[in-house]
Amino acid sequence: MKTYSEFQQLFEKYFPANEESMRVFFAPGRVNIIGEHIDYNGGLVMPAGITQGVYIMARKRHDEQIHIQSLFSPLQKIWNIQDSLQYDENDDWLNYPKGIFQMLKEKYNCMSALDMLIYSDLPTASGLSSSAALELALAYTMWQMQGRSTPLDLLTLAVDCQQVENKFIGVQCGIMDQAAIALTQKDKALLLNCSSLTFKHIPFTLGAYTLVIMNTNKPRSLIHSAFNERRSQCEKALQLIQTKCDIKNLCEASEEQLELISDPLLYKRAKHVVSESARVLQMCVALEKNNLISAGEILNQSHHSLRHDYEVSCAELNELVFKAQAHPHCVGARMTGAGFGGCAIALVETAFYDSFVEVIAKAYHLKFKYPASFYPAEISAGLRELFINDYL
Ligand code: GLA
Repeated sequence: MKTYSEFQQLFEKYFPANEESMRVFFAPGRVNIIGEHIDYNGGLVMPAGITQGVYIMARKRHDEQIHIQSLFSPLQKIWNIQDSLQYDENDDWLNYPKGIFQMLKEKYNCMSALDMLIYSDLPTASGLSSSAALELALAYTMWQMQGRSTPLDLLTLAVDCQQVENKFIGVQCGIMDQAAIALTQKDKALLLNCSSLTFKHIPFTLGAYTLVIMNTNKPRSLIHSAFNERRSQCEKALQLIQTKCDIKNLCEASEEQLELISDPLLYKRAKHVVSESARVLQMCVALEKNNLISAGEILNQSHHSLRHDYEVSCAELNELVFKAQAHPHCVGARMTGAGFGGCAIALVETAFYDSFVEVIAKAYHLKFKYPASFYPAEISAGLRELFINDYL
C-alpha cells in the first residue's frame, strides 16, 4: 500500500492545493471461498475481503462541482452537484460514480462538491469484485466527506449499491459482493444468509496452508448477459418447483424437489444451486474442525458443479484448477466469482507456495501464450477510512 504522502503527491498532480485536507478511503476486493451463484438464490455464501482494493483520495471543493479522475483513465470528469446523472453506455466506468451519486442524492440528499482521485491495485474484470469495491468506495467517501452525523449502516449501504448495479448499470447481481466489501473483517470469512441478510464472521485461519488466488488474466466478454441468463434460468426452475411445493427460494429446494424440473438445462442449473448450498455448510464444519483436506475436497466438488451443471467455467479456469488439483501440495481448487474468466483459488501448503506457482504458471503460459497471475490471499478488514495506523 502507498503511504499517505505518496497518496498526497499523486493527488496534487491532478488537483491544485486548497486549504482543505485530503482524506483516503479504502474498499477491499473480495474472494468467494464457497457459495457460488448462491446469493441471488437466497442461500448462504462465504466470501472474505482481501488486501487489494480500491482507494479514493478526496478533498472538499468550495464550489458546486465534483471533479473525478481515475489513475487508469486519462479523462477527468466534472459534474455539477445539481446535475441529474443518467446512464450512458459511452461513459464506461464513469457510470458507477454516476449511479452511486444519483442514488445518494435521491435517497439521502447526500451530495458534496469534491475532488476525487481513484487508485486501485485490484485487477479489474477478474472475479474479485472490482466494480462492487468501486461502488462502495464511492458511496462511503461521499457520505463521510459530507460529515453526516447519522451513523452509516454498512449493510444498508451495501444493499443500496447492489440496487445501483441492478437498476442503473443493468447487471442482476446478488448481494454477496457489496456485503462482503462492506462487512468483512481481518482474518475472518463472512457467513452471510442472502435471504435474511443476517451474517456472522467466522475465523479463517488456514494453519500450514495458503489460499492462493490464480488470475487467468482472460479478458471477460459477454459476462453480463450470461450472468443475467443464469439468474433467469434459476427463477424459472424455482417457479416449476413452486407449482407443487411451498418454497421461497431455490436454495431451500431438496434433491427430491429437483425432480419436478423436467427441462434438463434448468435441472442442471438448480442441481448446482442445491449442491453448492450444501457445500457451504460442509465448509463451515471443515473450517471449524480445521480439516483442510476436507475443505480442499469441497472446493474440488464446487468446481466440478460450476463446470458441468452451472456451465460458467472456461478453458483457462479449468487449466489453472486442474493443474492445481493435480499438484501434490494442493488439497483443492475451484473457480471463484461469476466465472467465464477471472480467478480461481487453490488451497496450497505454504511451504510449497513458490514451487506451486512456478509449475502452474509455466503450464498456463505454455498453453495460452500469455501469463496468469498469482497472489496469496491476505484477508483484510472491510470498507473504511485510512488513518495513521493503516500506513504503518
Ligand atoms: C458475481 C455477482 C455476485 C455473485 C457471484 C457469483 O460476483 O456480482 O452477486 O452472484 O457473481 O457467486
